[in-house]
Amino acid sequence: MRRAVALRGVSKSYREGEIEHSVLENVEITVGAGEFIALLGPSGSGKSTLLNLIGGIDLPDAGEVEVAGAVINHLSERQRTLHRRQHIGLVFQFFNLISTLTVEENLLLPLELQGSLDQHTKAAALDLLARVGLKERRHSFPDRLSGGEQQRVAIARALVHSPQVILADEPTGNLDHETGLQVMELLESLRSERGATLIMATHSRQLAARADALWSIRDARLERVAVDVTPGARRG
Ligand SMILES: Nc1ncnc2c1ncn2[C@@H]1O[C@H](COP(=O)(O)OP(=O)(O)OP(=O)(O)O)[C@@H](O)[C@H]1O
Ligand SMILES: [Mg+2]
Repeated sequence: MRRAVALRGVSKSYREGEIEHSVLENVEITVGAGEFIALLGPSGSGKSTLLNLIGGIDLPDAGEVEVAGAVINHLSERQRTLHRRQHIGLVFQFFNLISTLTVEENLLLPLELQGSLDQHTKAAALDLLARVGLKERRHSFPDRLSGGEQQRVAIARALVHSPQVILADEPTGNLDHETGLQVMELLESLRSERGATLIMATHSRQLAARADALWSIRDARLERVAVDVTPGARRG
């Protein structure tokens, strides 16, 4: 299987004053193209840190972060930004839509930043907005939409430039159970249609169980866990 993401010997720590706090130690993972990986772990265990490393938003202290064929921590900051705009789609817990832009402007922003906005890509983007059920709201501002609607726009925005890799950080964490499930189903079906890789941090074992593989961070170590692990189950 072609690989989409590979981390080799990745470590990350944060320094606060005198204290160095090791968040990730010697992380090794390979994710195949088109796979859906769920990332579990207690609050503060390093899930967002790991996603930020894969997204090139943060840099490791050691090791290599390979995404869509490039070792991104060896790129310049400028190259890393360009790489992210081309290959990565990001979905966050708090939607992160730009409040001063309309739904349509938010949606088209990745294409504009990438320099690929034209009649053709715009039409495809509006089709995608229709797929998430919000084409009629395209001239609305984000604060006029419900949380679930905002996240559906954010999902369309994350996919609009056809990224190979989608990184989702607790995408349903701010939604009620039913809405969260609907948003999850939408994200899953859109990404599988496109054959994109999805790496999702979540506290929900129910959602995590939908993934092809489950990984968990504990004591700064990333390890694969069985899909049938029940809540509170102890691993030996
Ligand atoms: N920029 C930073 N400076 C200092 N410490 C940081 C920084 N970013 C993260 N940390 C620390 O790294 C650890 C891991 O944080 P991270 O946000 O990755 O956890 P998480 O697993 O995503 O938690 P949650 O489930 O609550 O979102 C935490 O102890 C956090 O305080
Ligand atoms: Mg987090």
